[in-house]
Amino acid sequence: MTQHSAQPFEKVNRSAFRNKHLIGIEDLSADEINIILDLADYYADRLDEREFKPNILKNQIVLTLFFEDSTRTRTSFEMAAKRLGADVINMDVRTSSINKGESLLDTIQTLNSMLRPDAVVVRHSEYGAPKFVSSVVDCPVINAGDSWHEHPTQALLDALTIRRRLGSIKDKTIAICGDIAHSRVASSNMILLKKLGANIHIVAPPALMPEKFPTPDIQKFDSMKDGLKGCDVVMMLRNQKERMQAGLIASEEEFFKQYGLTKEKLSYANKGALVMHPGPMNRGVEIADDVADDKDHSLILEQVRNGVPTRMAVMDILMKDRS
Ligand code: NCD
Repeated sequence: MTQHSAQPFEKVNRSAFRNKHLIGIEDLSADEINIILDLADYYADRLDEREFKPNILKNQIVLTLFFEDSTRTRTSFEMAAKRLGADVINMDVRTSSINKGESLLDTIQTLNSMLRPDAVVVRHSEYGAPKFVSSVVDCPVINAGDSWHEHPTQALLDALTIRRRLGSIKDKTIAICGDIAHSRVASSNMILLKKLGANIHIVAPPALMPEKFPTPDIQKFDSMKDGLKGCDVVMMLRNQKERMQAGLIASEEEFFKQYGLTKEKLSYANKGALVMHPGPMNRGVEIADDVADDKDHSLILEQVRNGVPTRMAVMDILMKDRS
């Protein structure tokens, strides 16, 4: 149960949130992050009350545009928008006009003029695509993941999950492990967790360790034994095969042996350390079954659950002036 007192949503200071869009955690101040988390915490407390439907986005249209595969993120945005009373249009752009050669600009202009959305949620394989979309439409744009750049709502829901379990993020030591080089989840989390005062350990094989991190003061390790020492949370990542050049890892078996999270490796972290993974998981590659399914340590299903209240909070705040 939460140790953080949730504020009623009337009291959250939405006007202190300055950004019009949510393109990256990089653009947010610690105060803005906390505004989202406070509101998300409140929504998370009430998520199981089926009759709790604030209806604050009544008559508003949320357009989700996914140029890349997704199930949980798209569904979670849809659920969040519906809980707030919005109408949702889901465009699976992978199978549409883009395959007929239409440019991103033309696709966006067409949908903007047809639907007049009040918010656009966009996932794209190209770095910077959501920012480009925000320059074309005249409503808030929410980045649902662009290339290896940022995935801000994932980092926010991860922070909410840690905060609800540990009370705060400040001074916690959090290991982020695996395919750091190709992971937008790792980038957004590094930036967010640093802004809220955590210590970050990055653990990766040399071939998957980036040359530069998006934020300073990150400690890097190439062994799980060293990297997990002193950690309160161990966050695993999916190997991003779709962005990984062939040969970067010797084999999945070898990767699991050295970097896959097993009970034995988890014992290097602090007693009671919590385990996270954004999903989808490759069991037996990044994480062992008994660790993923361990109800005492694994927060993986809580992360998925917290996606809905986090996205409710983001839409509530960004769309506040539009009703
Ligand atoms: C992540 C993503 O798509 O970036 N997944 C997600 O949003 N649930 C992580 C991943 O695909 O590995």
